[in-house]
Order: sequence, then structure tokens, then C-alpha cells
Amino acid sequence: MSSAIECVKKIIPPYQDHLPTASVFAPSNIALIKYWGKRDETINLPVTDSISLGNYGSQATLSRAEQGDAVFLNTQPVDKHSEFFRRAQTFLSLFRPSPDFYFKLEATSNIPIAAGLASSASGFASITLALNVFFNWQLDLKALSILARLGSGSAARSVCPGFMHWHKGMALDGSDAYATRLDVTWPELRLGLLIFSDKPKEKSSRLAMKESVYTSPFYQVWPECVEKDLEQILPAIAARDFALLGSTAEQNALAMHACMQTSRPATVYTLPETMKMMHLVWKARRDGLPVYFTQDAGPNLKLLFEAKHLTDVKAHFPELVEVRPF
Ligand code: DP6
Repeated sequence: MSSAIECVKKIIPPYQDHLPTASVFAPSNIALIKYWGKRDETINLPVTDSISLGNYGSQATLSRAEQGDAVFLNTQPVDKHSEFFRRAQTFLSLFRPSPDFYFKLEATSNIPIAAGLASSASGFASITLALNVFFNWQLDLKALSILARLGSGSAARSVCPGFMHWHKGMALDGSDAYATRLDVTWPELRLGLLIFSDKPKEKSSRLAMKESVYTSPFYQVWPECVEKDLEQILPAIAARDFALLGSTAEQNALAMHACMQTSRPATVYTLPETMKMMHLVWKARRDGLPVYFTQDAGPNLKLLFEAKHLTDVKAHFPELVEVRPF
């Protein structure tokens, strides 16, 4: 087993100098085939591959601070005792040239307020990309994906936009657990956000994921489900087969929720409103509208549809926020 700092040392060049400031954007991502469960919790090595689609995201601006780390989110200083500050600081500490080197991190996000997309993925990926410029490391996407993964697993998929495939890898040091971009653009593809709740979740996905791995009887079949879903979704993406993409993503999300709902203690992010919307999606499909959903570690749904059906999808879901991934 490797520590995060050992992984970093293998990748970044020796410290020489830094720029006055560096500012880089990274997309957030929505998983179509979910990452749910780790084979190594220290360096976020996944049990399975996963596939995602990038969308809105975050900008990280880094500079050197004189007296201790300082973190700002959307121009507001972040409380030093908050979980957000602690996770950002722990991650930045992996990259300090010396113990008295402090960072000022200014993070901004263009994720619509309360969109339920405020994942850590774009945050850690944007910090990683900004560090790469700040210290002039000139790392490739593979190395950047590995570094971003140390902050949050799903951040491995946020180092560039579009479809990303995070490979589970086999190496104990995580050197083969990184994401690659699928060379497919799909301009007609749309995501639709259905936001019913903007309350912070009661249980982190990190904890819920761990409980699923150790206690859900269904977790044993999860890797097999993912293998089968990958066999379907990769050709679906290559052929731009929307029905196969949507049905596979929806089934995969339901299987992930089955794992968490059958863990001890159970994790149920689904609310009555979530269920109501799922039934509306299924009814719309029975009525001939090709629309599918996916759900992450929260109650909100993300719809998948094609641009030509936007008007009809909006008629069924007037509150939908449209996202164009390409
Ligand atoms: C449900 O990447 O947030 O969104 O690696 O512990 O930071 P950590 O977990 P995180 O988990 C994301 C879980 C998910 C599915 C996915 O994005 O694939």
C-alpha cells in the first residue's frame, strides 16, 4: 500500500520555482457508470472502472500566502474549521515545497447554485491543474488524473471535459488508476438537472460507499454489473446509440442505489420527490419520449435526452435545468 505523498513524489519534478499566480478551470462530471467502492481508501483506488460526462465546473486560482493557508470560495473566506478547508488543506499539503510554504486558493464555481453538482471532483481537479501551471510541472493528463484522484476519486475524471473513462488499474501504487478521454463528441446529447433538494447530505458519499463495500450483500455482484454495463456503454458512446447509453446509465445508477440501500446502516438518498420523478420518466418513456435518468449520492436526478426532444422533455419537467456537455 502506498501513501498519497509517496504517489506524489513519484510524479512531480523537483521544486525549482513558481509563478506569481495560476488560474485553471476544470469541469465537474456526472457518472454514467458509477464509481462506488474502493480497493484502497488511502489513495482512492476504485474497485471498478467508471465512465462520466463533464459539464459545469470550477476555477482554481493559486498563489503563495505568507502566513498560513487561505481558502476562498466564490470570493468568501472559508472557515478554517470547516470540512471544506480541511480537505483542501490536506490536499495542498501534498505539494508544499517546504513546510513553511503556504497557499492561497481562490475557488469559484459556475455550477448553478443548488444544482446538486457541487461535487468535490471539479474542485480537486482544478487545484491539480492550477498546481501544474503554478509550479510549471508540465505533466500529462495521465499524471494529472492520478494526482487529482488523491483528493477525491471522481476528480480523476475531471481533468478534461467530455466523456472520461477512469480505469480501475491493478497496481498497488495506483499508477494505472487514471482516466482517459473518449474520443467522441456528441453535440446533440443533453443533461437535465432536476433539483428538488439543496440541503447538504446527511451522509457523505465517502462513508456511504465504504459501508456498501463492507456490509451490502449486493456489493458482491456490483463489479460484475459494472463489467456488463461497460460492455454496453462503451459501444453505445462510440456509435452514439442514445437508447443504449440512457438505459445502461439508468440501470447502473439503480444498481448503485440498491447497494447502498442494502448496506448497514442503510443509506437512502432517494426522497418521495425523487421517486415521483422516476415514475414520470418511466411514464414519459412508455409514451414514446426517449428520456432516462441517473442519480448520484443525493436525491436529485439528472436526465439524459437528445436536443431534438428538449421541448417535450421540458413539457414533462418544466423545472429542468438544461446542460450541454459538448
Ligand atoms: C456517487 O469521488 O466523492 O458520485 O473518492 O471518497 O472522494 P471519494 O468519493 P467521490 O464519490 C463519487 C460517488 C458518486 C459516483 C461517481 O461519481 O462515480
